[in-house]
Amino acid sequence: MSEKMWGGRFAGGTDALVEAFTSSIAVDKRLYAHDIEGSVAHVKTLARAGVLAEEEAKTLVAGLGAVKKEIESGNFVFTDALEDIHMHVESRLTELLGPVAKKVHTGRSRNDQVALDLRLYLRDEVRAVLGLLGDLKGALLTQSADHLDTVMPGYTHLQRAQPVLLAHHLLAYFEMFSRDSERFRECLARVNVMPLGSAALAGTTFPVDRAFTAGLLGFSGVTENSLDAVSDRDFALDFVSAAAIAMMHLSRLAEELVLWSSAEFNFVRLPDAFTTGSSLMPQKKNPDVAELTRGKTGRVYGDLTALLTLMKGLPLAYNRDMQEDKIPVFDAADTLKSALAVFARMTAALSFNRERLAEAADRGYLNATDLADYLVGKGVPFREAHSMAGRAVAYGVEKGRELGDLTLSELRESCPAAGEDVFAFLETRAVVDRRACIGGTARERVAGALAAARKRLDSEL
Ligand code: ARG
Repeated sequence: MSEKMWGGRFAGGTDALVEAFTSSIAVDKRLYAHDIEGSVAHVKTLARAGVLAEEEAKTLVAGLGAVKKEIESGNFVFTDALEDIHMHVESRLTELLGPVAKKVHTGRSRNDQVALDLRLYLRDEVRAVLGLLGDLKGALLTQSADHLDTVMPGYTHLQRAQPVLLAHHLLAYFEMFSRDSERFRECLARVNVMPLGSAALAGTTFPVDRAFTAGLLGFSGVTENSLDAVSDRDFALDFVSAAAIAMMHLSRLAEELVLWSSAEFNFVRLPDAFTTGSSLMPQKKNPDVAELTRGKTGRVYGDLTALLTLMKGLPLAYNRDMQEDKIPVFDAADTLKSALAVFARMTAALSFNRERLAEAADRGYLNATDLADYLVGKGVPFREAHSMAGRAVAYGVEKGRELGDLTLSELRESCPAAGEDVFAFLETRAVVDRRACIGGTARERVAGALAAARKRLDSEL
């Protein structure tokens, strides 16, 4: 049984089961670098306040560096008896430096310390996520540039609806992931606030300059209320909810790739490097990356639910329940980053089947809306035009022919206002290029949208 750092008021030791139950070291040891970075800034702040002598501070900073090296060497011994990463670092520091190390925790509590560590960690994670989102958006733009002339069916209800450019479809995902980047940048602004000095809950009694600590650690400000600072996890919820939404977007893209790579659609070929085979069926090439992304999305939703539920009943301020926050936060960050990384690479390597996409856009009466619009141009009220075009479609279905393959006199049966010019009007490319409003799928619009998207992405990097 080891001496506990908080052992002063205890007569007996801790039950071994309790030690294992309350320990978080297996999870929070990955915060070691942030924990040490925070302690270095804390020591410097204490020295500046005259609470530590300059010599003591120097010794402590060097000692903290040595502990960091030991952890990175892989020889550091972790034990449940020392509960968490904060205790491990301080305990080893004491072994290395002796009595002076017992001053490192002056004016600090693990409550503000862990809030600081989590903020430092999330700041790095947000930056990593933003970089990966940038890679994925870049891959989408490259594919879009390649497919400014690839026409495909656009769908509603997964039924062919109207033709669109593949670039337009891909740029829809660019928009989604751009909003994800925005959400993460907003999250960063709320993460990037420094809680140290809040101590256990009421604030430190030592005359520390909190703004100085914030400056050392690159925070843009300090927290305003000590109770809030040690018990707030909304900054982590911001992160996990942004992660859940980004995963939802990835999952939709994943679902389309699963569908599109099937023999039934045959719109896209997934690169071999991003698929796997079957142990039984020799012909199989499965879209596992896409499927797993869809599946992992459920886990990240679970992380969000876990964290929301964890926090909802807690009275101010810190409660030990909050130690459980790291599991969902780490899982959400790891899952999102791995999914983004693999999707960025896979998206760049997709090869679309232009002929098959074009053929699919030409079949299924995707120009029926335009026949109605054409009739409106000839003075027919839209509701009537809609019904006439519907009858033309019914006739085509019966004959097994597309609208453009009917003769003019056949068309006139249902659409008396139709003239020779109707056939050019119904051509798929004409149908696409007529959608020239802002946000529409006309080639010129999409080319403009692509250029604007490229600029936006460049300005983010
Ligand atoms: N390991 C704890 C956590 O992650 C921090 C320790 C605070 N514990 C305490 N007894 N005040 O939340």
